[in-house]
Amino acid sequence: MALYWIFVLLGFVPVSHQACSCLNDTLLELRFSGAVQTKILNAHNTLRSQIARGLYKSSNGTVFVTATNMLKLIWNATLTNQAAFYSVSCGSGGGAGLSVFAQPNGSPDTIGTAATTKWANEFKTYGPMGYVTSAKTREAVSMAWARTQSVGCAYSMCMNGTQSVTTMVCAYYPVGNAGKQLIYFQGPTCSKCPSGKACVAASGLCV
Ligand SMILES: *[C@@H]1O[C@H](CO)[C@@H](O)[C@H](O)[C@H]1NC(C)=O
Ligand SMILES: *[C@@H]1O[C@H](CO)[C@@H](O)[C@H](O)[C@H]1NC(C)=O
Ligand SMILES: *[C@@H]1O[C@H](CO)[C@@H](O)[C@H](O)[C@H]1NC(C)=O
Ligand SMILES: *[C@@H]1O[C@H](CO)[C@@H](O)[C@H](O)[C@H]1NC(C)=O
Repeated sequence: MALYWIFVLLGFVPVSHQACSCLNDTLLELRFSGAVQTKILNAHNTLRSQIARGLYKSSNGTVFVTATNMLKLIWNATLTNQAAFYSVSCGSGGGAGLSVFAQPNGSPDTIGTAATTKWANEFKTYGPMGYVTSAKTREAVSMAWARTQSVGCAYSMCMNGTQSVTTMVCAYYPVGNAGKQLIYFQGPTCSKCPSGKACVAASGLCV
């Protein structure tokens, strides 16, 4: 048990067999490098900025309506720890506010970009879907939920039979995807930033 907490303090946790159907003793919860964290965060904020400014188009040319209250996301170390914890389930058992992306032989250097591209492309493929959450756009909605202020992502690697599988999880605060609520308020870009936040015109985000 003492050894377990030393691993926790070092930022990773050795996980026992029971946590996941496809792991063995070598599985670890892992943290992205600072450079990859920045890429993941930037991918979120780029999508948010494009939507907020009316620059985001789905595959059939539908332009997403501009957003009045889109926050700029920051990285959240607490959420990173939660994401690491959930990532050891190898993609199963995710909960509210968690996005999961599993890739055979996935590289920690590239899986962040692969995941955020796939998630954002849900909007490309399916469109705004009424600007509320839907099963087809769930991960894109999590990326773009206006009142979400922070994100943390981590990954794990485990063996699925003879195949190594890398599983990335992102967690959000506050959690979006709420019922029939709108993803964001529609209107002039950045015109209704919540109190304490100011509009940055260049990005169209509330900072
Ligand atoms: C456990 O992982 C190691 C390292 O990836 C691998 O060599 C080994 O074959 C795995 N064992 C099982 C039972 O999958
Ligand atoms: C295509 O356009 C219609 C409106 O013209 C829209 O309702 C629908 O969501 C669009 N599909 C995509 C994938 O954007
Ligand atoms: C980070 O996440 C934790 C856990 O969900 C939350 O309590 C905290 O307020 C978040 N911090 C920021 C700056 O969003
Ligand atoms: C593990 O392997 C099985 C059988 O090949 C496959 O159906 C399953 O999707 C794999 N799981 C992951 C997380 O890759």
